[in-house]
This record gives sequence, C-alpha cells and structure tokens, in this order.
Amino acid sequence: MDGKKHIVDKFGRVHDYLRISLTERCNLRCFYCMPEEGIQLRDKAEFMTAEETLEIAKTFISMGVKKIRLTGGEPLIKRNAEMIIKALGQLPIELTLTTNAVVVDRYIDVMKEAGIKSLNVSLDSLKEERFNDISRRGYFTRIFDNIALLLDQGFDLKINVVLIRGVNDDEIIDFIEWTRDTALSVRFIEFMPFDGNQWNWDKKVSYNEILSAVESKFGDQFSKIEGKPNDTSRNFKLNGAKGSFGIISTVTNPFCDTCNRIRLTADGKIKNCLFSQSETDLLTAHRNGQPIEPIIREVMLSKEKERGGNGQFDDEMVKSMKNRSMTTIGG
Ligand code: 5AD
Ligand code: SF4
Repeated sequence: MDGKKHIVDKFGRVHDYLRISLTERCNLRCFYCMPEEGIQLRDKAEFMTAEETLEIAKTFISMGVKKIRLTGGEPLIKRNAEMIIKALGQLPIELTLTTNAVVVDRYIDVMKEAGIKSLNVSLDSLKEERFNDISRRGYFTRIFDNIALLLDQGFDLKINVVLIRGVNDDEIIDFIEWTRDTALSVRFIEFMPFDGNQWNWDKKVSYNEILSAVESKFGDQFSKIEGKPNDTSRNFKLNGAKGSFGIISTVTNPFCDTCNRIRLTADGKIKNCLFSQSETDLLTAHRNGQPIEPIIREVMLSKEKERGGNGQFDDEMVKSMKNRSMTTIGG
C-alpha cells in the first residue's frame, strides 16, 4: 500500500471509507434523531452543491477512499440526489446509502445504474402505530412495501433498529423472527447520545442485554457469523434462517480500533469521528481555491483513539459533551 497517498491517522488506521451527508433535512422526525424543536433552516449557500459534493468526493478518492456512503437527514430528498448518485456511480468506489426508504421506490433504476448493490434502511418498529409515533409521521406501510420492493429487485438490505428502553425493546425477538424467511440482515444499534435527543444511560439497550434476550428465547438455535475487519456489528444467524442479525455496540463496546471512517457533513465540514466535538470547514477552503488535501490529512491526524476522546459514556459526561444532532451528521 502506498502510505503517502492513503489517509492514515497517528494510530496507523487507514481511512478509506467516506460518509457524505447530502442534506440535514428529513421527511421523518424520529424523536431521537431530530431535536424536538426541529433543525434550524439555513441559507442554501451554506451547503455543498451537487458539483461541489462531487469535486470534494473526487479528492477523497484520489487519497485512497474506496467506499462512499450517502446519508442525511434523508439523502433521497436532496434535490439533485439522482445526479449525484449517477455521477458517483461512475467513479472507482463501492457506493451505498442509508435511507428511511420513504421515497426509495423512485430511485430503483438510478441506483441500479450507479451500481449500488446494498442499502441500509432505518426501521425502528414492526408495529405500524408505534413506528409512526417514533417517526412522528405516517409512512409505515409505504416503507414496509418499499423494503419488499428492494428485496424483490435484488438489493442486499441491512435494517437498522435503534433500540430504546420502554419504546421498542420488546421487539427484539420479532425482528429476529423476520429474518427466518426474509433474506435481510437486522442490526440492533445501541441508542447513542447526541445534542437534544433525550439520551440517558438507562435508555440504551446494551449488547449484553440483547444477547441474553436472544439466548433465553432461542437457546442454542443460533450461531455467530465470523466478521470482516471493519465490521461495526457482531453478527449472528438463527439456524436455517435466510437472513441474519447483528448488534452495533457503540456505547458499551466501541469498534474504534478498526475505524476507517471519515464524515463529511452537508455543509462541507469534515469530522474525524462521529463523536468528535470539533469539525473543520472543507467547503470554504474549496470555494477559496485552497487545496483541501493537506486539511484532510491534518484533521485525520488529530483523530482521537476512541469515541472522539470523550471517554466512557455516562450521564455526566454526556451533559458536558457538545455535538451536532444526528440528523446534521448523518450517522
Ligand atoms: N443512536 C443510535 N443510532 C442512531 N441513528 C440516529 N440517531 C441515533 C442514535 N441516537 C441511526 C438511524 C439510522 C442511522 C444513520 O443512525 O436510525 O439508521
Ligand atoms: Fe430521518 Fe433517519 Fe433521523 Fe429518522 S433517524 S429523522 S429517518 S434521518
């Protein structure tokens, strides 16, 4: 590997995976993601245009980025999402996206043309009323139909379920049962703290709790699946099932050791960690004609070893932590 070209931090981690948030806006209002008061609307000029997004993405690719994920808010409500997806599809990277699937049916052909093979879909409940309560909108049926459509069209799907105590923690088994006859992968995510999302330690459902729920229901009727180097989830499969399930334990057991991720926000700021309390403006530099490569290298060299240097999450630490809300970072 050409060490000069690649984006390496001071712990030797090679960063070849870029997550680009296309927009902060969303057509849902999940209470743990969108702050209650909503997000402040800002002038359009503060956000990357489609052209700028592509130019900046190309710089990252020239520095060894091999995979790009489009996130949001909801990436598919960005004006020009189609153009961005098609153009990125021409570049030598693996392209993928995270969506709430509300409008994904309009993008089937575009995604195929761009070579997208797998998608992450966020779905926090299999119960219509509950899902619509969590997301403060009424799209459950549409999303469920769109998941069936995506499977039918041959896309690989991961379903992201953020488990929150007292909200949807009684659905672990139902989600896993879904994977018996459906070839998708359900991933339970520990609820993480962000600005304005009402997090506290007791609301997250931990890896250990999820696994004990699974063990007490399924006994030895499931097994572990061996992971790949940059996996963020530990994965399992019910015996004989078509799909699988996994747990992403960011809070109790982060996977920072093998982190290869860089984040670019919709307003063109680079973040070296989901939990970093600082961010650096690439867009303004790019607009001023400054080379952004050295900035990218410097930001990534200052990446902390774990969780943005915040230490172990607990209620006290989270009170003093400053971060954007999830919808403005993009997962
Ligand atoms: N904790 C865990 N996951 C979250 N997401 C959004 N907010 C949080 C949070 N506080 C998830 C979304 C989506 C992905 C991008 O991040 O549900 O699946
Ligand atoms: Fe939108 Fe996803 Fe946030 Fe829900 S979790 S408001 S779907 S970005």
